[in-house]
Amino acid sequence: MPFAHITGWGMYVPEPVLTNNDLAKMVDTNDQWIRERTGIRERHIARETEFPSTLGVEAALKALAVANLAPTELDLIICTSSSPEYIFPATACLIQDQIGATKAGAFDIQAACTGFIFSVNMAAQAIRSGSIKNALVVGTEVLSRIINWTDRNTCILFGDGAGAFVLQASDKPGGVISAVMHSDGSGADALSLPGGGTRCPATEITVREGKHFVHMDGKEVFRFATRVMGHAVTEALESANMKLEDVACIVPHQANYRIIETAARYLKLPMDKFMVNVDRYGNTSTASIPIATVEALQNKRIRPGDKVVFVGFGGGLTWGAMTVEWTGPLPTPPTQKKKHIYPLQYRIFAKVRSLLLRILRRIEGLLSRKEL
Ligand code: UT7
Repeated sequence: MPFAHITGWGMYVPEPVLTNNDLAKMVDTNDQWIRERTGIRERHIARETEFPSTLGVEAALKALAVANLAPTELDLIICTSSSPEYIFPATACLIQDQIGATKAGAFDIQAACTGFIFSVNMAAQAIRSGSIKNALVVGTEVLSRIINWTDRNTCILFGDGAGAFVLQASDKPGGVISAVMHSDGSGADALSLPGGGTRCPATEITVREGKHFVHMDGKEVFRFATRVMGHAVTEALESANMKLEDVACIVPHQANYRIIETAARYLKLPMDKFMVNVDRYGNTSTASIPIATVEALQNKRIRPGDKVVFVGFGGGLTWGAMTVEWTGPLPTPPTQKKKHIYPLQYRIFAKVRSLLLRILRRIEGLLSRKEL
């Protein structure tokens, strides 16, 4: 059975930054309150021309460059987002088109902030089963478009950004070792976007009532998160036959510094075992774990051979954890010539391809109309 290795990683955040002091001019809040209760100092906000797919493409191309893998070699793209571009089509299909992943099947997974762990697990399982070799997983968010900027309970928390992993099959042991996935739909009300689905379709009334914004019972989510995080880590470690002492770094979902502190206390670990960057990005939902992983790698908090744990929680309610033995890009087999992939060039190819396909579809439509 092949192993599923994480061989590429990338992140992207939009340039514009919104600080706590900027927020204090918009709602009744202040920098000290936000920092003390959440640990957040600033967050990035997408420009009008940026969308979950465009952010996701930036992160994906960086991940493919690290893995030295061409988009055309991908078999599968899974995108996970709490702020998808549309209900359908899947944001994964938009990313597939924009990077020119000509042979990849693409779909979205919805598990709110736990989505990245669930998606990496699904990609790893597809690789482990032998049905595919190369997968791309993207967590991408433009949460700023579904936030009520007059609600101080939520608008201080969230930020925009994207992160991506490439997963590849290899006979060498390592990569994703274990994962646990949990859900409790009885807590669905605690964190939701009530409007825009088929239970509450968009009307003037739903717009007026703010149903198209994120609704959250902050205290309830806080209690839930502190209850499940440490336990999920222990479960994933047990299933991997690993001990806490073996772990070099824990990368938690970045929602609130105090939630991570509570998990550290539960596990009796010092805070420096945890990668934390919520101060600079806020809660980027499905993108927070890959963004924090990329920074942990840049800061040498994760090195090849290290055992790493990802842990997340979010709307649904959902929560989960995953253990990974970090390897990095796969070496080129001695029998093969070393190739150099420049995935950015594929973006141009993808644009031309997409345009041609659209034109062909038009022509085909015109011709078949004549036939009818
Ligand atoms: O990916 C998962 C997404 N969600 C989460 O992770 C959210 C988890 N929950 C939390 O992080 C915290 O519950 C919050 C940060 C949302 C709130 O912190 P808290 O310590 O639970 O505050 P609170 O709601 O108990 O509010 C305490 C006080 C209240 O005033 P009173 O009633 O004590 O006078 C609030 O009205 O702070 C007030 N308050 C604020 N003050 C200044 C609430 N929001 C703000 C604010 N600025 N932004």
